[in-house]
Amino acid sequence: MINTNVGKLSRRRLMAGMGTAAAGAMLWGHGALGAASDSLPESPSGTSAEDLARDESYWQRVASFYDRTEGIVNLEHGYWGKMPRPVQSSYLQALERVNTQNSFYARKEFSSDYRRAVEQAAALLGAEPDEIVLTRNATESIQSLILQYDSLKTGDSVLLADVDYPSFKTLMRSLEQSRGVKAVELALPRRATQAELLAAYTEAFDANPKLKLMLLTHVSNQHGLVLPVAKITAEARLRGIDVICDNAQSWGLLDYRITDLGVDWAAFNLHKWIGAPLGVGALYMRRGTREKIKVHPGERDLSSKSVGARVHPGTINFAAIIAVPDALGFHNAVGGANKTARLRYLNELWREEAETLSHIEVLGGADPESRTGMGSFRLLGKNSDDDAKALQKTLEADFGIFSVARYGLADGACVRITPQVFTTPNDLRQLVSALKRITA
Ligand SMILES: Cc1ncc(COP(=O)(O)O)c(C=O)c1O
Repeated sequence: MINTNVGKLSRRRLMAGMGTAAAGAMLWGHGALGAASDSLPESPSGTSAEDLARDESYWQRVASFYDRTEGIVNLEHGYWGKMPRPVQSSYLQALERVNTQNSFYARKEFSSDYRRAVEQAAALLGAEPDEIVLTRNATESIQSLILQYDSLKTGDSVLLADVDYPSFKTLMRSLEQSRGVKAVELALPRRATQAELLAAYTEAFDANPKLKLMLLTHVSNQHGLVLPVAKITAEARLRGIDVICDNAQSWGLLDYRITDLGVDWAAFNLHKWIGAPLGVGALYMRRGTREKIKVHPGERDLSSKSVGARVHPGTINFAAIIAVPDALGFHNAVGGANKTARLRYLNELWREEAETLSHIEVLGGADPESRTGMGSFRLLGKNSDDDAKALQKTLEADFGIFSVARYGLADGACVRITPQVFTTPNDLRQLVSALKRITA
């Protein structure tokens, strides 16, 4: 268990600073090591996120805080988020401090650094600090939620979808053996609007009246599709279906507060779009919902009410947690809404061209709300796993563009394209030129 007993006063102070990105940069960050606010790429005030998305000089300044991958155009930033240099140096200093002070630091001082990280993560998410525990990744959070969910009985059904993360689908299916339930799998259309996605889920609810629990992915790993989580969750609640939400890919790629989504439980990564060091995730449990998720069986107090008792990570990477406030500070200085808009704009730059090419199939969102900076495509009709692997290899070997093949959609495999805030329009022009010339 990790102690999540954090103070309310500091959270109020933090929340007071959430008005503008500039104000945020003054209040946020200042972790144990502290990234100075003059070393952050604060966004100009009075410019809309959509206008700023096209301001190349601003994004060049943001890009100057990152080291670029050498030797290739890297368009695979969905794996994890590169730390900007101030966060990297904060992390490296933390590593030195932890290694030098060893157990003396870990046993005496880590709990206050941990509390600071939780308070700031919770404030940015719009959660209460006692609703959050930091984990090692979204996988650890989801495993706790699915495996410790305690309200299933033989004969119930659980719902998953093709857009869910592969190992989470396997976990949901494993409930058939372990809990005697039926796992229902929903196949979503290749391209869909928010209304069509909601309709697909409500149809599945109506066709499966024994549904008790569902996994819902906010942003898919295969093609960056955004599901209308708040609306689907409202429909689920009307039918008594509990929702476990996978927000691994969405936090920082989209700008939202967890309360906007109305979910009881959610799993996050801070090492993707928040830009924290590798090895930091979070588990959110809304107050009043803990009884349905059992305490981790490795805990001493099996009647504990705390969120922290739902995971049992053992010894963790202290330095990564120490760097979290600085990662949040940098993210906030750029601004969540600005990042979302810039990444969507970068997606537009290649996707709109790709949509005009008759030998290319673009997958994912069919309206702006269903799209993110992450997108995917394939060569027309070539949807096997081997086709996607071959396409990824050709892009890399013949065109110098790094991407990744993604699997598991009912419609077949694809290649995912994920720019980051430091990706340039020129990088995407290179991709478009490759798409025009590619044949196999
Ligand atoms: C949608 C989604 N869920 C879950 C995960 C798992 O994240 P992690 O391996 O950091 O736990 C990923 C990773 O890419 C993802 O894209």
